[in-house]
Amino acid sequence: MRATSQAQPNIALIKYWGKRDAGRNLPAVGSLSVTLESLWTRMTVSFPADARADALTVNGRPDAGMLPRVSACLDDLLGVGRRSAVVDSDCNFPIAAGLASSASAFAALVVAASHAAGLTTGTLDLARAAGRASGSAARSLYGGLVELEVGEDDIRLVQRAVPSDWPLRVVVAVTERGPKPVGSTEGMTRSAATSPFYSDWVARQGEDLAIARAAVAARDFEQLAAVSEHNCLKMHSVMWTSRPPIVYWNRSTVGCMEAVRDLQRAGHGVFFTIDAGPQVKAVCLPESETAVREALGAVVGVQDILRTGLGDGARLVQPG
Ligand code: PMV
Repeated sequence: MRATSQAQPNIALIKYWGKRDAGRNLPAVGSLSVTLESLWTRMTVSFPADARADALTVNGRPDAGMLPRVSACLDDLLGVGRRSAVVDSDCNFPIAAGLASSASAFAALVVAASHAAGLTTGTLDLARAAGRASGSAARSLYGGLVELEVGEDDIRLVQRAVPSDWPLRVVVAVTERGPKPVGSTEGMTRSAATSPFYSDWVARQGEDLAIARAAVAARDFEQLAAVSEHNCLKMHSVMWTSRPPIVYWNRSTVGCMEAVRDLQRAGHGVFFTIDAGPQVKAVCLPESETAVREALGAVVGVQDILRTGLGDGARLVQPG
């Protein structure tokens, strides 16, 4: 009745922003992401016979703030008549700062909890359960390049490439360490209700996904770069034009975008993407990684640089 899992965050290149059905947490748009390799959440879940209530620690400390979402995800996965759980989570990167920590957390949770409870739930059903807790978490059940499709009733996930198919690198510039000012659920609700661009954003997502899918199939970096930056800027335009505006960027975010533009002009294979936070993720070809790391590290205000390749989906591991 105890299992340990590991999941890595994923970074969307074609973004999810907006919900079709808030109750079931069904996204309004499909998305396409890369699962990372060296950033991880490791989670141990057990159901001790004498546990009276769910308990959660994150990096060794009780986390009452996150506990209700963890309990709701366990109820959804195992039923409300389940035993109480003890959940211990460790994360090797900043939490709630736009680095997709909730994606790796809920992907790790569903894998460890289902095994600890003795279930043999398939990956798609685990992804759907993770996705009901945090939309982007569904993608972290799979590795490499992953597309999330939205059907009438539920999501589907398709692995478009395994990590070794296309060994891209991701350089993350951390420009601020605090938690984000507006959570993604609140932000999406606000955008849907107030941004004049929201309906266009939803209507045109299929075009961007088709271009990105074709780029992945052809390993066409330039095409993937162009559509990913466009889609990122479109999502942020929806955010900026929400009322009140949702602006996650700071000066260094913009400085990093300019640094990526300079690198592109110098001939490097690199593009940026930014999520619900101020960090800049630069996706690049392996031969450009050193130049990207140096350029982003030199931007004023950048506090840390994380580097990673593409990794596998959530899985069971030995407790460490
Ligand atoms: O999964 P959530 O609810 O944290 O939303 C994620 C939203 C973005 O990170 C901004 C985009 C994405 O597709 O991951």
